[in-house]
Amino acid sequence: MYQKRRNQLIEQMPLNSIFCVFSGNAPYSVGDEKYPFSVDRNFYYLTGLDKENMMYMAVKYENGTAAHMLFIEPFDEQMAKWVGGRILPKEAAAISGISDIRMNDERWNTICMLLNYRMDRVGKITFLGDFTLQEDHQKRDAHIFAKELTDKYPYVSVENGAYMLTSLRLIKDDEEIEKLKKAISVTNQAILNMMKHAHADMKENELEAHFDFILKSHNCKHSFPSIVGSGKNATILHYGDNNQTIKDDTLVLCDLGASIEYYNADITRTFPINGKFTPRQKQIYNIVLEGNRYIMSLVKPQVTLRELNTKLIEYYETELKKIGLLENGKTVRDYYWHGVSHMLGLETHDVSLSNYPLQKGNVFTIEPGLYLEEEEIGIRIEDNVLVTEDGCINLSEEIIKSVEDIEAYMSKNGE
Ligand code: GLY
Ligand code: MN
Ligand code: MN
Repeated sequence: MYQKRRNQLIEQMPLNSIFCVFSGNAPYSVGDEKYPFSVDRNFYYLTGLDKENMMYMAVKYENGTAAHMLFIEPFDEQMAKWVGGRILPKEAAAISGISDIRMNDERWNTICMLLNYRMDRVGKITFLGDFTLQEDHQKRDAHIFAKELTDKYPYVSVENGAYMLTSLRLIKDDEEIEKLKKAISVTNQAILNMMKHAHADMKENELEAHFDFILKSHNCKHSFPSIVGSGKNATILHYGDNNQTIKDDTLVLCDLGASIEYYNADITRTFPINGKFTPRQKQIYNIVLEGNRYIMSLVKPQVTLRELNTKLIEYYETELKKIGLLENGKTVRDYYWHGVSHMLGLETHDVSLSNYPLQKGNVFTIEPGLYLEEEEIGIRIEDNVLVTEDGCINLSEEIIKSVEDIEAYMSKNGE
C-alpha cells in the first residue's frame, strides 16, 4: 500500500529530483513535558510510520529510475530504559516496505554522494519539500533542510512538492475508506451512549464523558477536541469549554469524532437533553436537516464545495424568509456563517486544492447549521460522505438524525 503511494509520487516527480518529507517532533510544553506528538500526515501517508525525527527521501534519476530511503534515529539504550526503545531498522522496514534504512547522521553524506556522483549536475536538480506554513509562520524541517542544502549546493533549485501529495491524498483508496468507516462506527456507538445517558441539569463535560468512555474502550483517539455545547454555547462554532450545566428543554450540539490510525470521523448531532424537541426547536432543526439532505442530493463529480455552500445559502434564503427570520435587515449570514463542507481524511480539515471539482473517491463533510443566539438555539447536523461515479454514499447514514428517530431512541433508553 505505501509502496504503491510512493510509486505514484515518483510518477509526478520531475527527472533529476529529490523529494524529502519529515515525520516531525513534539515541542516541549513545560519543564520536561512535551506536547503530544502528532506525525506529519504526508510522511505517514507514504511510510505508515508514526515516530519522531525520521525523514523519507525519494530520488528520481535522470533516466527515470528511482530510489527510496528512510533516515531514522539510532537505538539509544538509556532512552529504551526510560520511555521504551526507538523503532529498530528492521521494524521500520517491515512497516514501510522501505529496505534502505539509514541513520539520521548519514543524511548529508548520502546527499553529497547523490549530488556529486549519481545525479546530473549539468541539468536542473530539483529539491522538493513540503513548505506549507501555518499562521504562526514557524519553519518546518523542510525549510531548514532546504536552506542548508542550497547553502551547500547553490545549483539545486527548490520547489514546493506538497501539492503532489495533496492530489494523491484527495482520492481515498479502499483501505482508507475502511478505516474511516470504522472510525464513524465507533463515533456512532459513542453518540448513542451520550443520548442514552442524557438528562436535564447534567454538565456538558459529564455528557462528554459518555462519548469518551466508548472511544477509550475501543482504543481510539479523538479526531479533534470535542465540542459539547448546550443552549447558547451551541451558537459558538468552536466552543470547547464543555463545562456548563445543560438546562431542561435545551438542545445540545455535539461535534466530535473518533480517529483510527489517524483517519478521522467528524460528526455533529444535535439533540434535546430531555429527549423531546420543543415545537420551535423542531421547526429550526428540520430546516437544517432538510438542508443536509438537499446538499447531499447535489453531490456528484465535478461539483465544487463552494457551489454546494451557495446552494445551501439559497435554500436558507427561502426557508428563513418563510418563518420571518429575515426581517429588519437580517440576512442568512446572521444565522449561518461557516462553510458547509471540508475534505476529510488523515486530517479533520483535510488537504485540498483551490476550487477543486469533486472526483470519485473524495471524502468530505456536509455540515449545515443554524445559530439563533437570542433564542439560545444552535443546531448543526454533520455527515461524512464518499463521492461515487454519479453521486455519493453517506458513510454516516447509520447515525440517527431525524426528530422521530432521536425522540424514539431517547425515550426508549430513558425508561
Ligand atoms: N469540528 C470542526 C468541523 O466540523 O469542521
Ligand atoms: Mn465537526
Ligand atoms: Mn467538520
